Amino acid sequence: MPRQSLVAANWKMNGDLAGIRELVGEISTGVEPDASTEVLICAPYVYLPEMQRLLVDTPIKWGAQNVSEFEKGAYTGEISVSMLKDFGCEFVIVGHSERRHVFGESDQQVAAKFNVVNKAGLTPILCLGELLEERQGGTTEEVISRQLNEALNCAGIESFENAVIAYEPVWAIGTGHTATPEQAEEVHAFIRLQLARHSDEIADRIKILYGGSVKADNAAELFSRADIDGGLIGGASLVASDFLTICQSTR
Ligand code: PGA
Repeated sequence: MPRQSLVAANWKMNGDLAGIRELVGEISTGVEPDASTEVLICAPYVYLPEMQRLLVDTPIKWGAQNVSEFEKGAYTGEISVSMLKDFGCEFVIVGHSERRHVFGESDQQVAAKFNVVNKAGLTPILCLGELLEERQGGTTEEVISRQLNEALNCAGIESFENAVIAYEPVWAIGTGHTATPEQAEEVHAFIRLQLARHSDEIADRIKILYGGSVKADNAAELFSRADIDGGLIGGASLVASDFLTICQSTR
């Protein structure tokens, strides 16, 4: 059975209340309900109640960009997975490269977040990706395996039954230097192979998104590759017409 595609917007720390209302209005009017592609918006925490209000009767899902690895307690400024559930989130991005490299999240911390989201019955979008110097040094596969194995060891292969992976080469994020479809496909196939060592069925079923300078004019070619099941879209998700074009590029 062909895998359903997923196109996920990652708004990062952008927008304001008036702006997101307008953007959501444009996106939800333009999205054509289509069983072959799921559309998701990962908004800043404080706008999640508004996302729920705006999107509840649409085919578009909403989710968060991060979560605490702890369930509750004395963790000032953190947001728990149960809080996200209260506002209807179904997805949570974990281990985005900005979390790893700007905020110093370790592989272990990312794996703990992956586990917490999974246990709560939400879908984690686990981001994996190498730095430019790692690619140039020929260690891309090593880095990806290390990041993936940490989540596998912490949460087990079964937890990937309801998970999404996003391959996001750090050198491609927000830089305009998109990975070529060949470069992306090579790593996607490698990730699927790593999972197949534990379960062929899960490896075959899991969605692996590509992220990193996906634009309206390069999405279709990326999404046409066998192991690329959609995208995690940053900059281009802030422009409704671009995001809608990307959503339609999965076909
Ligand atoms: P970008 O960001 O599309 O702006 O490169 C992607 C991401 O960080 O998820």
